[in-house]
Amino acid sequence: MRTPIIAGNWKMHLTLAEAGALVGPLRTDCDVDGVDVVVCPPCTALTTVVRALAGSRIGVGAQDVHWEPQGALTGEISPTMLVDIGCRYVIIGHSERRTLFGETDETVRRKLGAAVQHGLIAIVCIGETLAQREANQTFEVLERQLAGGLQDVSADTVQQVVLAYEPVWAIGTGRNATPDQAQEAHAKIRQWVGGRWGALVAQAIRIQYGGSVTAANAASLLQQPDVDGALVGGASLKADAFTAIVQAGQSRRAAARTAAGR
Ligand code: PGA
Repeated sequence: MRTPIIAGNWKMHLTLAEAGALVGPLRTDCDVDGVDVVVCPPCTALTTVVRALAGSRIGVGAQDVHWEPQGALTGEISPTMLVDIGCRYVIIGHSERRTLFGETDETVRRKLGAAVQHGLIAIVCIGETLAQREANQTFEVLERQLAGGLQDVSADTVQQVVLAYEPVWAIGTGRNATPDQAQEAHAKIRQWVGGRWGALVAQAIRIQYGGSVTAANAASLLQQPDVDGALVGGASLKADAFTAIVQAGQSRRAAARTAAGR
C-alpha cells in the first residue's frame, strides 16, 4: 500500500516572518500519521522552516537544485548544501523551471542523478501543455519526459523518486484536471514505470497530481486509484487549505486500508 504524499510548493512567496507564521499551524495540524507531508519553501526560508519543523514528521524540500556538489556557479545551490541544512526532498523539473528557465529533460536527468546520489528524495515533475493535450500528444510527451529525465535511475535509486503529474494548463489557472483525466495519465505513467523497472516498482512508486489542487477538489482527485498525493502550489500558502488537503490524503489511506480489509 502506497503512503500518500502531499507536498506544498511555496514557489517565490513568503518572507521569513510569513513563512514562520505559516509553519506554526502546519506543525500543529499536519504532523500526522498515514500520509507524508512535505513543504518546499524558497531557499531563503529553508533553514528557518527546517528548524521550526524539527522533531515533527513534516519533511522539508527545496524547489530546485544544481547537479554539482560545489563550484563557481553563481546563484546555484548544490545537493550537498541541501542535505547539510536538513532538507530531505527536492522538486526537480517543475514546469516553471522548464518553460521560464530553459530546463530540459537533460537538466532534469543531471539534477535527479545528483539528488539521489546525495540521498535526497526527488519529486520529478512532468506534464503536457494545453496545445500538446489538444493535439493528442499527452502520453507521448509524458513518455519523452520520463525516458529523458529518468534515464539514469536504477532499480535501487527509483525508491528515492516521486513522480508528479502536473499538466501545465492546470498550474495556477484554477482549472484542475478532472479526476478522470488525472487517473488516465497516472495509470499510463505507472504502466511506463512497470515497463522500465517491473511490476513491483510500478506498484510502489508514488505519483502525485499537481495543478490547481484545492481543499475543495483534493478528495475527488485523491480517490482515484493511481493518484497517490498532491503537489500543491497556491493552496499550500494557506494553513487551513493545506491542512484540508493533507486530511484528504489521510482519508485516501484509510479508504485503501478498508478496501484491503486491514
Ligand atoms: P498550483 O501549482 O497548485 O498553484 O496550480 C501547482 C504547482 O505548480 O506545483
